Amino acid sequence: MVDKVIVTLPLPDTALASLRERFDVLAWADEAAIPATVLQDWAQEADAILCSVGNPVTAETIAQASHRLKVISTISVGVDHIDVPAATKAGVPIGHTPDVLTDSTADMALALMLACTRRIPEVDRFVRSGQWRSAWSPGMLLGRDLSRSTVGIIGLGPIGLAVAKRVLGFGAHVIAWNRSPKEVAGIEMVALDALFERSDIVSIHAALTPETHQLVSSKRLAKLKDGATVVNTARGGLIDEHALIQELIAGRLNAGLDVFEQEPLALDSPLMSLENVVLVPHLGSATAATRQAMLERALVNLVSGLARLPLPYCVNPEVYKRG
Ligand code: DGY
Repeated sequence: MVDKVIVTLPLPDTALASLRERFDVLAWADEAAIPATVLQDWAQEADAILCSVGNPVTAETIAQASHRLKVISTISVGVDHIDVPAATKAGVPIGHTPDVLTDSTADMALALMLACTRRIPEVDRFVRSGQWRSAWSPGMLLGRDLSRSTVGIIGLGPIGLAVAKRVLGFGAHVIAWNRSPKEVAGIEMVALDALFERSDIVSIHAALTPETHQLVSSKRLAKLKDGATVVNTARGGLIDEHALIQELIAGRLNAGLDVFEQEPLALDSPLMSLENVVLVPHLGSATAATRQAMLERALVNLVSGLARLPLPYCVNPEVYKRG
């Protein structure tokens, strides 16, 4: 029997065509996220689920599918949209796409740091709205230097390290906090609260788990110096977004955000009207080459799982340790 593959998001035509050559494919084609009820319904007959961020694969969906599901493959490095314990309990391997998006995401974090510290979107609006009246003025629209900044990095995984490497190149002092002890040349490891007290810029690079949910709490945000910048290219749920919005409304902080508690960002979010925040629609990995590499990794995982081979990029390899 031909394996049945559920695709929960629109894929490039060539990728979809190559899947259709080998498998019986049921694909969601709409840009709006697949409704949970549709995914649950489709999953009942699935041998594989190909998904990405924004398509929650819940314990219920896994339970519906578990009698024949061989693999869940996500086109992302993050897996917070998948109930990993439920999949592991059901013996279903989860594939993800590490490494290939490290540099693109680190570049986005740097882009947001520079956009905030040199006020790029704000000064662009200044020019376009006809407010540029004196050719050059010593006090006009001043920013801050990365080279004079202390940058605090939360999470020293591959992306956090790639960001550290970049900001060290700019001459910044880099401090970092990591869940497990780590020593890296040129980086001063500090306690999490001290990181908030000392940083001019905080850049977040932790995975979202129940333990890290709102790690950037209102108390920690309050420890930041006036004028500090918060950059988030990881997951919206890592920050208490309501508390951040209060700090932004007070004009005490500024922020560069690629990720949000709810995506897409609601049109009535207070963030939409704030001048001191740069908003990006979850594009950290969005270069053509990186997205292609992520897709390739996800397809290799998918095909391996269907062939009952170990996934090359597996989140829960413990599923293979059972007898
Ligand atoms: C990931 O891979 O987890 C990103 O957030 C999507 O690019």
